[in-house]
Amino acid sequence: MSRFIVNGGKKLRGEVEVQGSKNSALPILAATILTEGENILHNCSGLSDVATALRILRYLGCSAKKTGCTVLVNTDSICRNDIPDNLMREMRSSIVFLGAIISRTGKAKLGFPGGCELGPRPIDLHLKALRQMGVKISERHGVLECTAEKGLRGAHIALSFPSVGATENIILAAVKAKGTTTITNAAREPEISDLCDYLISCGANIYGAGEGVITIDGVDKLFSTQHTIIPDRIVAATLMAAAASTGSEIYLKGLIHSHLNSIIPAFEETGCQVELERGNMLFKAPDRLKPMALIRTMPYPGFPTDAQAPLMAAATLCKGTSVFVENIFENRYKHVDELVRLGANINVQGKVAVVTGVESLYGAVIEAQDLRGAAGLLVAALAAEGTTELSGINYLERGYEDFEVVLSSLGASIRKI
Ligand code: EPZ
Repeated sequence: MSRFIVNGGKKLRGEVEVQGSKNSALPILAATILTEGENILHNCSGLSDVATALRILRYLGCSAKKTGCTVLVNTDSICRNDIPDNLMREMRSSIVFLGAIISRTGKAKLGFPGGCELGPRPIDLHLKALRQMGVKISERHGVLECTAEKGLRGAHIALSFPSVGATENIILAAVKAKGTTTITNAAREPEISDLCDYLISCGANIYGAGEGVITIDGVDKLFSTQHTIIPDRIVAATLMAAAASTGSEIYLKGLIHSHLNSIIPAFEETGCQVELERGNMLFKAPDRLKPMALIRTMPYPGFPTDAQAPLMAAATLCKGTSVFVENIFENRYKHVDELVRLGANINVQGKVAVVTGVESLYGAVIEAQDLRGAAGLLVAALAAEGTTELSGINYLERGYEDFEVVLSSLGASIRKI
């Protein structure tokens, strides 16, 4: 098992290009199943979750090659419609393959998805919507068997919660369904818009992506295309948190500013200065941060749950008390006990975490238990005095490409052993 050894307390300085978004790349890789010919996807990061998605495509009989940040996928030779349990368990987003496989082959057989343990992560909204679209679903011994004998048909689907994954699965099932599908209370995350932009450039008819109501008119065929994955807003937020916790100045390149609309004000509240210029950001942190009154995680355009842990790590060093309310996942405070080992003062009651800022954090041996928790712990380790040994970095590698290399290039003292 790899670990990071971090000698904290070093200021960061320099510029960095923000990687492509994991949570865009995964549904777009699943969407290639709906197309004919060779797709070229640019800005596709080298992440273990992307590697898992490519393995799923190859298992299904498709050709999927990655060279640098470019992925070539041709799904013309697809010959299976099942996903083995080991691949399903590796990541939660393997479930977005369901809508695409059933649309392409009329059948799908897969187990329940795995991924980070953030509390109960049901897929009831996905399954209810697919049933409305004509899919028969039976579950035996943890395996879902789905069939759409007469093909998929458009439906009016009202989501009780704007689930990102359910919205993606419905879109994937609907683009080649018979008739029109409307999704009410759809997720509005930028990654949904990126998926729709990809599908539209393949020939899909989708209206309202990024809004609460999405309308999809089914088409008979989708063609392949070239598409560039959007930058990862959560990686940007993590780098901002790293600079904030270390009192540093960094320059982030290749951003979409509007995707950070709820994240930037949280940092500004702490006294950080953010200057935006055409896709780039100059980020300057003060020597001591002011507290954040209240950070409530919400579906987009609210503050993202995925940035909660990195921001909390920075909040541990604020002069005063910050309050976090985690509204999306029940169990997304696993980093808290480890932050406390570094000297942080945090009290959790249910979905509320009260963070009383301390003057300094101190290096310790800590362990990450999920992806964004790992990112938060790394942010804290960069600021802590002395040496921190962080294990569980396999979680980090699901969503951050060569992060130790990125941080080293900014002057951090970090090595992977
Ligand atoms: C996506 O997960 C992201 N993953 C998550 O990022 C992100 O935290 C989450 O959206 C929220 O923004 C990918 O895009 C691959 P949801 P997803 O369905 O689709 C409940 C990361 O760190 N729910 O919007 O699984 C669910 O339990 C990852 O990069 C149901 O009740 O999130 C949760 O409480 C982690 N029934 C809430 O909705 C359902 O059928 C939000 O889940 C589906 C979801």
